[in-house]
Amino acid sequence: MMTRRPRRNRQSEVIRNMVEETTLGLNDFIFPLFIIEGQNQKIEVASMPGISRFSVDTLLEEVNSCVELGIKAFAPFPSIPEQLKDTNANESFNPDGLFPRAIREIKKNFPDVVLMTDVAMDPYSSDGHDGIVRNGEILNDETLEVLGKMALTQAQAGADIVGPSDMMDGRVAHIRKVLDENGYHKVGIMSYTAKYASAFYGPFRDALDSAPKMGDKKTYQMNPANSREALLEAELDTAEGADYLMVKPALAYLDIIKMLRDNSNLPIAAYNVSGEYAMVKAAAEKGWLDGEKAMLESLLSIKRSGADIILSYFAKEFAQYLKK
Ligand code: PBG
Repeated sequence: MMTRRPRRNRQSEVIRNMVEETTLGLNDFIFPLFIIEGQNQKIEVASMPGISRFSVDTLLEEVNSCVELGIKAFAPFPSIPEQLKDTNANESFNPDGLFPRAIREIKKNFPDVVLMTDVAMDPYSSDGHDGIVRNGEILNDETLEVLGKMALTQAQAGADIVGPSDMMDGRVAHIRKVLDENGYHKVGIMSYTAKYASAFYGPFRDALDSAPKMGDKKTYQMNPANSREALLEAELDTAEGADYLMVKPALAYLDIIKMLRDNSNLPIAAYNVSGEYAMVKAAAEKGWLDGEKAMLESLLSIKRSGADIILSYFAKEFAQYLKK
């Protein structure tokens, strides 16, 4: 006699739905957006089918279509013209630069959306690194000064949450201090707590032309072999004042998401990065798997592992899926 038959709870759709442990909803998502200079521009990223780079005018149309679908939070990233890049990323704290202009326009037209803005030097750096480079070394404390100015410029433009993605030591504390000293105590910090030196950022660097000109990011982004180190980063970010902890990438790091979830009371975010998106899209284009099912399973797995918030290029497609 078999007393325990787990299949009993799988025998019909109603029962399966009743015992379902994890559900995805639009409140879980932040949708990344790529911004370029110009007018009436919408240029698809070659390695990210379905994802485009928008000039500010068409960006507003894109935000509008997402808001109509029920997406309420966005993570915009600017693509900065090469001639405006320099070693100090000065354009990153120019209040009239592309990024602050775009933030102001989005918040003016859509005051209720939440904008989480990226704080890192790489889109503005002539070296393509997240920190100041001197003699081949990525300087930490000098970089914090730039990050503080960048975060303040974004807050002044209307950012609700700033997201330091640079992995310099001490950046959360420094940014918190600069924001508070300038009256921006309500602006939150979503720290890229456990950001790994990953091959899965390739398509993103295509989208922003932000790949490092020399070397790699291994002296600041984490070694994919390490998990205890993520706990150390989480402890520091929490002590320094982070409001959210993020793990990035997501799918190859579900154990890290789960570990932070089990060890922290802060909301945990996961970044389902460009390469994870591109893999599903490429295989679906070849007819090698069902793209929609693979999307849903990937997103569900990220949530099941413990993420409260998912940054994903699939957010809009997921919203469209819910509508139909
Ligand atoms: C920049 C940054 C990167 C991503 C987000 N912010 C790239 C990098 O660190 O090289 C990657 C996002 C993605 O791949 O979707 N600091």
